[in-house]
Amino acid sequence: MASDADQGERPAGGTDGATTPERAADAPLAPYPPNCGPPWLHFVHQMREPLAFAEEALATRDVVRMNLLGNGDIYGVGHPDHAKRILLTEREKFRKTEDFRIAFGEGLLTVEGEEWRQQRDVLQPLFTRDSVMGYADGMVETIRRRIDRWADGDRLNLQAEFTDLALDVLFATVLGRELALGGDREIRRSAEDLHGWFKPTSYFLPEWVPTPSRRRFRAAQETLRAEADRLLDAKRGAAPTDPADAEDLLSLLVGIREAGGDSAMLSDERLRDQMVTMIFAGHDTTTTTLTFSFWALANNPEIRERFHAEVDALDGPPTLDDLAELDVTERVITETLRLYPPVHSLPRETTTDVVFDGHRIPADERVLVGIRHIHRDSRFFDDPETFRPSRWDGDLRSDLHDFAYAPFGGGPRICIGRQFALLEAKLTLATIGRQYDLGWLGENDADGEPPVSPEMTLRMEPGQEFLVTER
Ligand code: HEM
Repeated sequence: MASDADQGERPAGGTDGATTPERAADAPLAPYPPNCGPPWLHFVHQMREPLAFAEEALATRDVVRMNLLGNGDIYGVGHPDHAKRILLTEREKFRKTEDFRIAFGEGLLTVEGEEWRQQRDVLQPLFTRDSVMGYADGMVETIRRRIDRWADGDRLNLQAEFTDLALDVLFATVLGRELALGGDREIRRSAEDLHGWFKPTSYFLPEWVPTPSRRRFRAAQETLRAEADRLLDAKRGAAPTDPADAEDLLSLLVGIREAGGDSAMLSDERLRDQMVTMIFAGHDTTTTTLTFSFWALANNPEIRERFHAEVDALDGPPTLDDLAELDVTERVITETLRLYPPVHSLPRETTTDVVFDGHRIPADERVLVGIRHIHRDSRFFDDPETFRPSRWDGDLRSDLHDFAYAPFGGGPRICIGRQFALLEAKLTLATIGRQYDLGWLGENDADGEPPVSPEMTLRMEPGQEFLVTER
């Protein structure tokens, strides 16, 4: 499965944003909400529920300005045409936000321009579909190792279980290091604490303010960088010089360096940044996808039955050869990523004045692309709030605007790990589905939606449980 926003290679289903007329009267936007109620009330709502606030704003029009009392504005855009301009056709007018660079230094997620191109070229071979398929057996082994500990009647906090699982897989494949099943707690906690940098309060407080979550972030960064150093030491002189022989990302990078590759780009400092970036970008997104997939299955009995029938038809635990047979499983994941995209909004900053729908956004302003909002827009999806994997059975993909479904972003900076993530999700669902049924013990809201607590990524509220039934 490739993202529909994949590099913009497919013909656009909607209008091309690059040709959106920049009207002469590019009026500044009035801030949302308009004059109603005391400003502090909106501020509290914004602080406590930033995603809900942004989505309420985007429900009123496709480009909005939200004022952050005392800390400037954030603009939101909620149409695939706008997403396409930002991520593809006019991407030079937007840069990544400074907070990512402060957090992750010079890793792939943050660097720009020629430096980004070079890093992407070096890393891409490890993330192609073919390379990633080589991880399949190891992934299934890692998944089974963890779920074999589950027992009938267990009440599981799946978000926590899948965080551990995603880290097991990521460390084994990217860093070449097996994490202890019930151990390595400090590393696991540190990976979690990386998200502390992006608590909603970070939009409101200057980055020098030492909030508790920012202090935890700094400690986590130190722990993971020290771990990266230990792993680097172990690989020195031991990494294969032919990239084709590298079994993990760190070995690949060290091998290239030892074969005389670009020394600045592969310095210890840069490799440390890259490792921390991958841990951040690669584990929580996958965790969220898995958790919401099982929530969706538990809450949709007919679909769950078809899913179980599909995975029961396999001869044993899933292998590479089975992937093509897992249609229902794949659509469950596709639809989960539509309704619950882990990266619910993509942050950027303008490098110059830009005009959306006749409204000017000045240079150096923060802009959020409302991915989750776009995924739930009835202009692009029928009955958009309903979980219906079968909507992907027919021609929806080819008929859809090419930026109306973008869980992995789009344009050249589309997620490098998407094949990896989709493979892991498919194998995890199939391996668990053959062995267990997971029932939802949490409470949905009045609209049937799960309890979420969105931070940088969409997450389920802490403490939600699922009931394990052996099949
Ligand atoms: C379901 C799981 C995943 C989702 C939904 C996801 C989503 C995304 C999105 C939306 C972006 C674009 C960010 C932007 O444009 O600002 C991105 C970039 C990135 N992702 Fe993922 N991701 C997932 C899994 C992974 C995994 C498993 C890895 C690594 C093993 C990874 C590594 C990265 C990196 C390094 C980038 C930056 C790429 C660049 O700028 O060239 N992601 N991801």
